[in-house]
Amino acid sequence: MSSINVWSRGAKPAFVRFLIFGIILQAVLLVLIYKNSKPSRCEFQGFFLDKIILFSDSLPNNQSITANISCDDLLNEWDPEVPVLLIDLDFLENLKNEDCRWDERKRVKIGVHVKDKNGSIIDTNRFDVVFYDSPDNKDFLEFNEDGKRIIPKRFETRQIGNFEIPTNIQRFIEFYKRSKFVECLGLEMNRNKSEVSFNGFQGAFQNGPESAGILSRFRDELIDMGMYPYLNGGTLLGWYRECTVIPHTYDMDLAVFKENYNPEYTEKVLRGETDFILRRKFGMLEDSQEITVVPKEEGRPAIDLFVMYDYVEDGKLIYRYIPGLNDDGTKYRFTHLLLDPSCAAEMHGHLFWILCNPIEQLKHEYGPLWYRDHPTDEYIWNSSGKNVKRVGKFSKEEMKKYYLEYKN
Ligand SMILES: *[C@@H]1O[C@H](CO)[C@@H](O)[C@H](O)[C@H]1NC(C)=O
Ligand SMILES: *[C@@H]1O[C@H](CO)[C@@H](O)[C@H](O)[C@H]1NC(C)=O
Ligand SMILES: *[C@@H]1O[C@H](CO)[C@@H](O)[C@H](O)[C@H]1NC(C)=O
Ligand SMILES: *[C@@H]1O[C@H](CO)[C@@H](O)[C@H](O)[C@H]1NC(C)=O
Ligand SMILES: *[C@@H]1O[C@H](CO)[C@@H](O)[C@H](O)[C@H]1NC(C)=O
Repeated sequence: MSSINVWSRGAKPAFVRFLIFGIILQAVLLVLIYKNSKPSRCEFQGFFLDKIILFSDSLPNNQSITANISCDDLLNEWDPEVPVLLIDLDFLENLKNEDCRWDERKRVKIGVHVKDKNGSIIDTNRFDVVFYDSPDNKDFLEFNEDGKRIIPKRFETRQIGNFEIPTNIQRFIEFYKRSKFVECLGLEMNRNKSEVSFNGFQGAFQNGPESAGILSRFRDELIDMGMYPYLNGGTLLGWYRECTVIPHTYDMDLAVFKENYNPEYTEKVLRGETDFILRRKFGMLEDSQEITVVPKEEGRPAIDLFVMYDYVEDGKLIYRYIPGLNDDGTKYRFTHLLLDPSCAAEMHGHLFWILCNPIEQLKHEYGPLWYRDHPTDEYIWNSSGKNVKRVGKFSKEEMKKYYLEYKN
């Protein structure tokens, strides 16, 4: 008679406890199994390294991890017949941490110069070969991988046997992470020839090759400060649409993700330690910083460097934005789509990073007729873009701190 009552009152909590215990036990087991299955550098393996090597065939993945020898010794052991560039990001990550235990069944990715493209010399069981070229008239290397990948030549290497190893491994990893090549469109703009005459300034303010060269020098200074800038705004539009800088624009635009921005660069520029001069510094580092520089040598054109911020709502990344600030204190946000940051482009022989699917951002910013020429003088920076938001205003006091112009 009361058995139902007993079941529903007394036994239910016990049963629930049993269930919860079971779930926790399963979770703990899952975590242990997961940790055990990771091939490298978890504490678990660190402590029991000797055993793992001895019993490596009993590992869940059936790995065969190299013994604990130094990275240099391992590379000497694997020394290939021709010079190769070590480009395997996992292996480089290990090398950075001086922990070169490696599953011997996993091939190590290497770059082989096309001039050494000589069939069977390289052990393709051990190495995953990617051919690359180093064109004289370009400031980047080209890899025949996933279509094409390009990375700046701006990295040094050291030699171990025939291995060339990037000295600054983190920089090389950052380069390779942003290397998927995207072609520009190259539309014919049919501008009035006399308007595009550059030296007489008849409506043309910039010369593509010259401006791209200046922008690449700025890019190099940023790279040396650990920043990896992306083409932005009108400069992105010009590259994609015309494969050059739009001649009637007055300046060029780059953007750097907040997490990658190094405010020390501005201090260096102010101390006169770079090839650029600071013209303006606007906004707050936390949410609205931008700087404008000009090259010392040529004096023009100006280059804007914007910090690209995340806009987060309820813990979710909604969009990214770059800031804008009017001289009356009005603050703006130019919204950006959440595009993949792993692509690279060429402009006049120079490499520049771009967010993949540039056309998506260009439509977002300039509308469906983005491919039409739009006279710079009629383009109003704080209202013409389709992606502008007004987001408040600095007081007069704040403007003294956050609207800084430098004249020298
Ligand atoms: C593990 O790999 C070795 C060598 O590749 C092979 O001989 C062996 O059968 C594999 N063991 C299992 C359990 O897959
Ligand atoms: C690997 O070997 C070096 C010396 O050769 C030793 O100092 C280090 O602790 C070893 N690492 C591990 C994880 O056993
Ligand atoms: C490979 O290169 C060597 C010299 O570098 C050359 O003698 C040989 O003919 C080449 N082999 C092929 C298959 O191209
Ligand atoms: C080109 O520009 C010049 C000078 O601005 C002007 O006189 C001429 O009419 C223009 N030609 C065309 C075809 O628009
Ligand atoms: C843009 O800037 C101008 C000049 O400061 C100002 O008069 C105008 O109100 C601004 N427009 C917007 C949409 O904020």
